[in-house]
Amino acid sequence: MENRSLGRGPVSVPVVGLGTWRRLEAAAAAGRHRELIDAAISVGIRLVDTSPMYGAAERLLADALDGKRDQVVIADKVWTPSLEEGVAQVARAADWYGGRVDLMQIHNLVAWREHLPMLEAARARGLVGLIGATHYSAAAFPELAELMATGRIDTVQVPYNPMQREVERTILPLADELGLGVLLMRPLGEGGLVRRQPSPEDLAPLRPFGVTTWVQALIKWGLSDPRVHVSLAATARPERLPENAAAGSPPWFGREERALVLDLAGAR
Ligand SMILES: NC(=O)c1ccc[n+]([C@@H]2O[C@H](COP(=O)([O-])OP(=O)(O)OC[C@H]3O[C@@H](n4cnc5c(N)ncnc54)[C@H](OP(=O)(O)O)[C@@H]3O)[C@@H](O)[C@H]2O)c1
Repeated sequence: MENRSLGRGPVSVPVVGLGTWRRLEAAAAAGRHRELIDAAISVGIRLVDTSPMYGAAERLLADALDGKRDQVVIADKVWTPSLEEGVAQVARAADWYGGRVDLMQIHNLVAWREHLPMLEAARARGLVGLIGATHYSAAAFPELAELMATGRIDTVQVPYNPMQREVERTILPLADELGLGVLLMRPLGEGGLVRRQPSPEDLAPLRPFGVTTWVQALIKWGLSDPRVHVSLAATARPERLPENAAAGSPPWFGREERALVLDLAGAR
């Protein structure tokens, strides 16, 4: 799988990561959360995204990483309007992940003016590596751009898939200009884009790009924009990870193949 640098910093990761929203708890409910993380590591996935918003996901991830913490880059979040609780979330996360969170993101920009200096102080103490911010809604992108322009964050996490392309207008160009790392949420549209599958004949032009399934076409579509660094496809099923990870190797789509994926998704 190809590696890309997360922004200007020294952290370089394989381009397919793993999201945990709802899916890590689902894996745990099936008794498979350790198997899921083991499978991710074995197919070369090295970045796992989580949040205090995701129920027991942070704790389950820590449990699944017992003895393997050093093999993954943890992207966690602070998600609270309270500065005091934010400090506690950072401390808890550092505890769970061997004393340090590699990337700490401000989830949905909640109280970012308060949390940003707190995260900078946590970074100075070695509890946090990179600092980032996330938002799922285009309505919040002007505020996200304002935070990006402060020059005080290293990464952004935003939705990007054939049906959600608002980041093309300001966020991706600005991230590129500032040298920020870009993590993609919802590469499969929360699963909605996978429900209707194009035929193998429709996908045939993508085969020279190593793509044999629609899921791979969607993941590769996002990663073929060079301003993007990591795609956070989420699954509860370990057996799906080889398929997802295989979309993280070149050759990347050109303009024609990206346009074909938009057509097949019904986005044009
Ligand atoms: N505001 C924020 O910060 C924010 C918001 C949204 C998301 N995120 C992050 O981004 C991650 C990804 O977004 P997402 O979870 O919303 O959606 P997603 O990755 O676009 O889609 C996940 C869905 O796709 C299905 N799936 C995955 N691989 C598959 C495969 N090979 N074949 C068929 N189906 C497959 C999964 O079902 P199965 O489990 O059955 O495979 C799941 O229902 C999240 O987990 C989270 O870490 C952050």
